[in-house]
Amino acid sequence: MAKSNLPLDQIKGLYSSNLSHNGVKSTAVGWNSTESQALRFDKLTSVIEDYSAPVSVNDYGCGYGAHLDHLVKARGIKVAGYAGYDLSEEMLAAARAELSWFSGDLSLICSPEISTISDYTFVSGTFNVRFEADDSVWKEFIEKKLDEIDAHSRCGFSFNLLSTYVDWKEEHLFYGDPCYWFDLCKRKYSTRVSLLHDYPLYEWTIFVRK
Ligand SMILES: C[S@@+](CC[C@H](N)C(=O)[O-])C[C@H]1O[C@@H](n2cnc3c(N)ncnc32)[C@H](O)[C@@H]1O
Repeated sequence: MAKSNLPLDQIKGLYSSNLSHNGVKSTAVGWNSTESQALRFDKLTSVIEDYSAPVSVNDYGCGYGAHLDHLVKARGIKVAGYAGYDLSEEMLAAARAELSWFSGDLSLICSPEISTISDYTFVSGTFNVRFEADDSVWKEFIEKKLDEIDAHSRCGFSFNLLSTYVDWKEEHLFYGDPCYWFDLCKRKYSTRVSLLHDYPLYEWTIFVRK
């Protein structure tokens, strides 16, 4: 399947429809509870070493912007700028409404391409749904996206993927071998890479510090 055949329109449709059926809730972005959504954010946020310094953030596949809420309100991190990317205009409209309290520099960008350089880039759940794309095509897509994320992250980035260490797989989802992705990040991006696979979800998180 060529790059132009990536199922991005289908993915956009899925999440827009989830939002209109569920409202602004964790279920609209594919999570079964706010607790599991927050646990994912906690793991991703571990990439930040110094909570006292203001940071700027790219959130690739931001949904309704819940990660910014978590960073500032739950973790007390000083976020000076937040660039949220999503395919779904409806999700971004929800993010704009949800994040009206944020006094920093807010950009909500309807695009699969990252154009802003920030201190950190986060990715939560964005690569999970692949519909009919071949595993190899989707893997290549993620690898190119990680190159882009690396180039747009000054201090580091973190992402999660569903794990291959599961006893049940859904046809339309992508499962990543944590050893493969750890090795790739360690060889390509930084010597400072952590793999977190000890939390009670069927997935793992990698963070890369530069
Ligand atoms: C599983 S949801 C998670 C949302 C958010 N990260 C959270 O955890 O609350 C994934 C989001 O990424 C968006 N998305 C998927 N693929 C994308 C892409 N290639 N570029 C930008 N956004 C994408 C979807 O529209 C959806 O809102």
